[in-house]
Amino acid sequence: MNLDFTQIVPSIPYILKGIWVTLQIVLAAAAVGFALGIILALFKIGRIKVLKWLADIYTSIFRGTPLILQLLIIYYGAPQIVGFDIDAYPAAVLAFGLNSAAYISEVIRAGILAVDKGQREAAMALGIPYKKMMRHIILPQGLKNILPALMNEFITLTKESAVVTVIGVADIMRRSYIVGGQTYKYFEPLLFAGLIYYIMVMGLTLLGKAVERRMRKSD
Ligand code: ARG
Repeated sequence: MNLDFTQIVPSIPYILKGIWVTLQIVLAAAAVGFALGIILALFKIGRIKVLKWLADIYTSIFRGTPLILQLLIIYYGAPQIVGFDIDAYPAAVLAFGLNSAAYISEVIRAGILAVDKGQREAAMALGIPYKKMMRHIILPQGLKNILPALMNEFITLTKESAVVTVIGVADIMRRSYIVGGQTYKYFEPLLFAGLIYYIMVMGLTLLGKAVERRMRKSD
């Protein structure tokens, strides 16, 4: 195998700038996914049938079709869906956020259901209203249990974000691909991109472990 990194050295800062692009998309998408995920989860465990049904359909569609397809549909379909073009950036955040919400809602739903039934019974016996009980008693305990799973979703998002390359967002992936095109050497810049993603994922994994350890201590 012959490897020659000297040609891509001048392009390294350019590729590294993609880290921030990737992180921005992932953070924004995670926020969208989490907010929408909570709402969907509450719909799923709630008593209103229509909402439960809608949340289930939502989840099944977003989990049942490829993420790359959802991204392309949102980006290219925007003029027909909302009547105007949207930039690649917001399209990416929207696609990843909406997709992630489907997965996160299932995680949260399971987390809520795993909270001991006695907590709910005690709250009801004390006459605490449903909304208050959910917000102050059930959700905080449920969320604590699912922190590792949420961390996992964050890692998935980080890796899947490389898909934005297809709509032209200059993330780590696209930048290394561009450098490949300029130097006629794709192998080295792509390997470099792989290294960056790997380091990011390892960082998140360590962070997740630290959070978990901390939680166990507080138990
Ligand atoms: N490659 C998968 C797909 O195309 C990605 C799913 C995203 N997963 C997630 N946990 N957000 O559907």
